[in-house]
Amino acid sequence: MNNDNQLEDFVLVSQHLVMAEHLNPNHAIFGGQLLGWLDVDVYLFCTNKLRYKHMVTVSMNNVFFRAPAYLGDIIQIFARMKETKRSSVTALGKAVAFDPEKQAYRDIIECEITYVALDENGKPARIFNQDADDTQSL
Ligand SMILES: CC(C)(COP(=O)(O)OP(=O)(O)OC[C@H]1O[C@@H](n2cnc3c(N)ncnc32)[C@H](O)[C@@H]1OP(=O)(O)O)[C@@H](O)C(=O)NCCC(=O)NCCS
Repeated sequence: MNNDNQLEDFVLVSQHLVMAEHLNPNHAIFGGQLLGWLDVDVYLFCTNKLRYKHMVTVSMNNVFFRAPAYLGDIIQIFARMKETKRSSVTALGKAVAFDPEKQAYRDIIECEITYVALDENGKPARIFNQDADDTQSL
C-alpha cells in the first residue's frame, strides 16, 4: 500500500467499483476492462483541458500492469498531461485500488495515451495550446 507522493501532479478523474462482470477466469480484473476505463477517462480529462471533444485515440504505450485488482476493489483513475503537439495530445493515466478505511492505495496499472484532435471532416486539427478553446484544420 502506498500513501506517498507518486500521484503528485495527477488529477483524480473517475472511480469504478470492480464488479463480477469485470473479472477474468483467474478472478482478477480483466486487463482490457482497465484499459477501456483508462482510455475513456483520460480522454475526458484531455477534452476538458483542451476544451475540445472531437478526438480519437491513436496509441496507448508503456502499459504496465503493476498488480491485480479484485472483486469489490475501488479503482481510482488519475491523469496528468504530458505534452500537446500540433494535433495530438499525450497524457499519462494511472489506476490504483483505493482503500477508504486505510486511506491508502496500491498501484494497479499505468500507461501513456495519445489522442488526435479531428476537424469536421475527420482530419487532424490543430491544437493551439493546452488552454485553447478552439482548433483549426491543419
Ligand atoms: C488518428 C488518425 C486520424 C491520424 O491520422 P494520420 O493520417 O496518421 O495523421 P498524421 O500523420 O497527420 O498524424 C496526426 C498526429 O497523430 C500523431 N500520430 C500518428 N500516429 C501516432 C502514433 N502511433 N502514436 C502517437 N502519435 C501518433 C502524429 O504524430 C501527429 O501528431 P501532431 O500533429 O501533433 O504532430 C488516424 O490514424 C486514425 O483515424 N486512426 C484511427 C483512430 C481510431 O479509430 N481510434 C480508436 C477509436 S477512438
